[in-house]
Amino acid sequence: MSRVAELLGRDAIAALQRPLETARALPPAAYTDADFFALERKLVFHRNWIGVAFGHDIPAPGDAMPVDAAGRDGAVRAFHNVCRHRGAAIIDAPVRGQPSLRCPYHGWAYGLDGRLRATPLWDGQRVAAADALDRGSLGLAPVRSGIFADVVFVDLSGAAPPLAEFVRPLAARWAPYRTEDTRLAHHAAGEIAANWKLAIEGALENYHEAFVHPSLPARIDAAGNKTFTDTAEDALFGFCWAGETALRSQAPLVPLRDGPLRDGAEAARTDYLSFLFPNTQLNLYGSVVIAVIWTPLAPDRTSLRSSFYLVPEAAEGARFVEARAAMAEYWRNLREEDRRVIEAMQRGRNSPAAGDFRLSPFWEHSVHHFQNKLVAAMLDAETV
Ligand code: FES
Ligand SMILES: [Fe+2]
Repeated sequence: MSRVAELLGRDAIAALQRPLETARALPPAAYTDADFFALERKLVFHRNWIGVAFGHDIPAPGDAMPVDAAGRDGAVRAFHNVCRHRGAAIIDAPVRGQPSLRCPYHGWAYGLDGRLRATPLWDGQRVAAADALDRGSLGLAPVRSGIFADVVFVDLSGAAPPLAEFVRPLAARWAPYRTEDTRLAHHAAGEIAANWKLAIEGALENYHEAFVHPSLPARIDAAGNKTFTDTAEDALFGFCWAGETALRSQAPLVPLRDGPLRDGAEAARTDYLSFLFPNTQLNLYGSVVIAVIWTPLAPDRTSLRSSFYLVPEAAEGARFVEARAAMAEYWRNLREEDRRVIEAMQRGRNSPAAGDFRLSPFWEHSVHHFQNKLVAAMLDAETV
């Protein structure tokens, strides 16, 4: 029997797969079970393009940071962070401007291209004889990697479709905006005591906004119609909307577009909240691109790192100091408001009565899509 079906229950999977109107949400085990967490790592995080870091983490040649590994020399390179001698992790913290990456245990040194350069004292000599070891075959194991919107993606399987293909639907939506020429304006990092999927689902519906975020506008008009549109295109999901937010009025920044949109829509008032399955969030809100990398740490613990990008004049200009501070504060508050309810969702999942959860057909389309995408990806990967 499929391990995924064993852990979630066949009935629960069938209930999730029903049309949204009668579906039930993903059962509690998906958020609490250590075996399910390990299975997700293997079947989802080791098989798809996952966001692991930002380009701004490693801006210069010789900068590197441990994630499961990354490096850079004009292009980003990623390697498994494991020494070919006897397996020590080579770096345990970000490093800057290194000419090489040196293992802390016995001093093996690897070039920024991953090649093994030096093995001092291997044969008792300060500089080991060139033929003392087959260095050519002992480079760091490379990981397929690429960068989009300053997010460093890796594909540990080496078998995912090309990164350009993976990001294409999102890139197409962003095409009318000036997203290439932006600068980092703010960065925030934290942890949340909840499963990574709850953290993502927290951003995937507008239903809670009226109750959790009083500063946000209602996403319904006077007649009770949605003012947002769901996005659910396989690995790309979320929604977009047109409308005013407190951020727009209190912290006016420079719109990310050059002139009118090609399709004539009002770009400055169209916001996209998007996820790339499984763990990368890329939002474009008129004046700001916000990239968030969600990293599962444990079934009930997730780290998040958010980077905010503005056009250069808004990111660096003195006259935008206050607007930048207001932007950071605005998002910090929203994040804290979300944290309380997301952590409550995690606690609720430990109740023996948890389960048989409903999804609002009006609001929770993207949540349903995400949960189905996860289960389908896992079931597919199991059969390979
Ligand atoms: S484990 Fe790295 S040099 Fe020995
Ligand atoms: Fe929220």
